Amino acid sequence: MTKIRACRVSDLPDGSCLRVECDPPLAVYRVGGEFFATADTCTHEEWSLAEDGEMDGYEVICCLHLARFDVRTGEATALPATVGLETYPVEVSGDDVWIKYGD
Ligand code: FES
Repeated sequence: MTKIRACRVSDLPDGSCLRVECDPPLAVYRVGGEFFATADTCTHEEWSLAEDGEMDGYEVICCLHLARFDVRTGEATALPATVGLETYPVEVSGDDVWIKYGD
């Protein structure tokens, strides 16, 4: 398991998301004081959810064709996406937000 430092807690206001440059690119979200992480690329086509998406509660909306995903589970909740996003564990340590991914 690899850990990547995604951002500082203060970089991510509640209701927002950030792209994390790694392979694969990840997205980190903060909703209701909790942190979540998923793959950043929409499963419909190649599009960054964190760079060009919008948050609506626990859902991220892809701005290209308006698919939605639940950031807690990765589940695709609106068409045209039918495949969910990978999700990843998040750890908060002090002011640092870490994502665990890979083997
Ligand atoms: S690329 Fe995301 S909905 Fe089409």
